[in-house]
Amino acid sequence: MMKPYLHSSPSIIYFILLSSSLVALIFLVVYPNEFRLQSSVATRCRSAQNSTPAIFIEPVSPKPDFRLLMSVLSLPDSYERRHLMRDVYALQKSNLTGVQIDIRFVFCNLTTEEQRVLIAVEILLYDDIIILNCTENMDKGKTYTYFSSVPHLFGERPYDYVMKADDDTYFRLHNLAESLRKMPKEDVYYGLINPCWIPLFKNKYMTGMGYLLSWDLVEWIATSELPRKNRVGPEDFQTGLWMRESGRGKNYNMEPAMYDYFEEPRTCHRHKFVPDTIAVHKLKSHIRWARTLAYFNVTAGLKPSKLYHID
Ligand SMILES: *[C@@H]1O[C@H](CO)[C@@H](O)[C@H](O)[C@H]1NC(C)=O
Ligand SMILES: *[C@@H]1O[C@H](CO)[C@@H](O)[C@H](O)[C@H]1NC(C)=O
Ligand SMILES: *[C@@H]1O[C@H](CO)[C@@H](O)[C@H](O)[C@H]1NC(C)=O
Ligand SMILES: *[C@@H]1O[C@H](CO)[C@@H](O)[C@H](O)[C@H]1NC(C)=O
Repeated sequence: MMKPYLHSSPSIIYFILLSSSLVALIFLVVYPNEFRLQSSVATRCRSAQNSTPAIFIEPVSPKPDFRLLMSVLSLPDSYERRHLMRDVYALQKSNLTGVQIDIRFVFCNLTTEEQRVLIAVEILLYDDIIILNCTENMDKGKTYTYFSSVPHLFGERPYDYVMKADDDTYFRLHNLAESLRKMPKEDVYYGLINPCWIPLFKNKYMTGMGYLLSWDLVEWIATSELPRKNRVGPEDFQTGLWMRESGRGKNYNMEPAMYDYFEEPRTCHRHKFVPDTIAVHKLKSHIRWARTLAYFNVTAGLKPSKLYHID
């Protein structure tokens, strides 16, 4: 029976098609509500993702516990460092659940012919670069330009926190995320307090290794006179000054989970690696990066292969 059916003449196929369309049409006329019900449920799911638990069709990713814009202040020519940092953060992505951390590299206007091409290549591939409207500088207001540009660049509160980090700081994203989950979403000034060795020192601020502000504070920076008038000065000290002078930013000091690499000749902020590290700073050479990554077992998952030998 099958064979003659498959090889039937065009008129028989036409007849079959026609009758199945007729059945569909009849179904539509007799049970129109079935169709309307389907589409209205789908629409409601899409328009009220947050309140109604989605039951079917698409897997809906749950709202993250927090959203963090983590910007590494970089220089256009620091190609190699950016490459390393992309690698070490990409390797941690699978260790994050229920949070959104967007890592971006930030610098001022490009100045050379090669930058205009090589950085365009990076953007095409990674799309993780922000170029601010400024001339490269450290203490002449790049930090102000960064924080005050973010609300203009991203619009209506797309992030709960905005971070500024150094390119010689290694963050353990899982531990960072665990500590941030416990934080409020407003009036947060989070990092490692400096200076640490003078308890009564009044002019405290979060060190430049990496600190973050909640979105309300970033909006305040972007719209207020006090930061604008005090934008020039030792970069991260100025941020502390804006917070202090305006009575904003509750301090969340992450000592001793944030610290400098042990060999760094300093009197404080420096100790040996600890498992619950949030950030290690002063990774100014390849060997320091290597020892840090080795301590945190970053390469432990490497599989043996005929193609390479590493020991
Ligand atoms: C993520 O990293 C932490 C600390 O290194 C570890 O305890 C945890 O098991 C990891 N989680 C996943 C899902 O890999
Ligand atoms: C960039 O900054 C310059 C100098 O501060 C200013 O004159 C110019 O209007 C700015 N351009 C944009 C697009 O914001
Ligand atoms: C940065 O570059 C933009 C676009 O070329 C230009 O409009 C702006 O004036 C430059 N800003 C500074 C501060 O040089
Ligand atoms: C790295 O792995 C070793 C061996 O499994 C383990 O003893 C150590 O606790 C791990 N270190 C960290 C920081 O997780």
